[in-house]
Amino acid sequence: MPGVAVVGLQWGDEAKGKVVDILTDQSDVVVRYQGGANAGHTVVFGGEKYKLSLIPSGIFRSRVQSVIAGGVVIDPKSLFDEIDSLVARGVTIDKNLMISDRAHLIFPWHKIEDAILDSANRHEAIGTTMRGIGPCYQDKVGRSLAIRVGDMYKSEFNQRVEFIADMKSRRLSGLVGDLDEKYSVSELKTELDARRIISEYTNYAERMRQYVCDTTNYLLDAVDADKRVLFEGAQGSLLDIDHGTFPFVTSSNSSGVGISSGSGVPPNFINKVFGVVKAYSTRVGGGPFPTEQDNETGEMLRNRGNEYGTVTKRPRRCGWFDAVAVRYAARLGGVEAIGLMLLDVLSGFDILKICTSYNVNGRTYDSFPSQTEDLRLAVPNYETLPGWDEAISDVQRYEDLPPNAKYYVQRISELVGKKIELISVGADREKTIHIN
Ligand code: IMP
Repeated sequence: MPGVAVVGLQWGDEAKGKVVDILTDQSDVVVRYQGGANAGHTVVFGGEKYKLSLIPSGIFRSRVQSVIAGGVVIDPKSLFDEIDSLVARGVTIDKNLMISDRAHLIFPWHKIEDAILDSANRHEAIGTTMRGIGPCYQDKVGRSLAIRVGDMYKSEFNQRVEFIADMKSRRLSGLVGDLDEKYSVSELKTELDARRIISEYTNYAERMRQYVCDTTNYLLDAVDADKRVLFEGAQGSLLDIDHGTFPFVTSSNSSGVGISSGSGVPPNFINKVFGVVKAYSTRVGGGPFPTEQDNETGEMLRNRGNEYGTVTKRPRRCGWFDAVAVRYAARLGGVEAIGLMLLDVLSGFDILKICTSYNVNGRTYDSFPSQTEDLRLAVPNYETLPGWDEAISDVQRYEDLPPNAKYYVQRISELVGKKIELISVGADREKTIHIN
């Protein structure tokens, strides 16, 4: 300690929420540092299921400080919908939540841009969550049309919204109809009506005021004071804007490399990175997925694992475990130990396969290709392992797993090159095997 991070090592949806929830017991602060309401973290305890999107998973323990740091993009409507539904279920949210004044705000124009631009991507849509994430990050990097949380409290806020709404409206009018049939020019004008947006966001600003502060400074003080800080990654490493399967990625650094830039806490305070993987692979949206099983096997994984998006409810694409991709993501993130999730989903398969290398145009790759086109052409080389029939959801000790399940876990650890410290065999907090 003081810093421990949890990052996904596949294409997201690795069940990071459960690992964060478990580690929160030993933390004083939990930080979301990138992404936005595109994320969906499910936490189950006491038989109750909670779905989180923007709020850090630390929120269920009121002694823990939950922080939404500057690298996150915030849609205030989603934020308050989430806060309201958690409060209605008895969760305390007041001083235990902090929101960075540096975080960028998502506005209605970002969602329209997301809808219009997604289909403009080359031959295959990115298949975004349509939450306006990419366009908001685009404005952040472009600077001129960006609005941060702290800007809502400045006297020029209204003027700025008017200016940007007008600019976006004029730009987007040239694109609707051309690239997208969902919006007409008149619908655009209604959606981007500056007066309505100002009034809506002024209300959000007032509600948000109690949470807003300089979280970077808070976190730097926290690590100096040796507080135990847990960094909660969203999405997965293979969706990282710089190191993932570009352009089929999200717009933030969702691998381990994003922890410092998103939170402001320097890397030397991050003592341990915990990588989270599913015992198989899934992906939502477009892009190459070498071990995808678009067949009965994939269907079986989807049904047993309930592989439907938390945010968009889209069926997830499913396939075999890809050790090449996970090894890459684990190295990229400086991962020390792995949490292997949803192992129970694999009970009942006759055989299981793990991808150990790819063939691309006659060349063998045992490292992850940098070019998405190569990944699209990749033919996996598999190691085939025997499956097991026994249900394993009640197993509490590694020794009590069926021998073939233990062998599967062992091979994943060997092929990825990292030790496995935790195995999840069910959604509930209790359904976890800890390995020392
Ligand atoms: P965006 O983040 O909404 O721009 O979507 C970009 C890509 O990342 C799409 O393929 C999404 O399906 C994927 N994506 C974004 N957030 C998540 C997530 O939390 N889990 C899994 N995939 C995600």
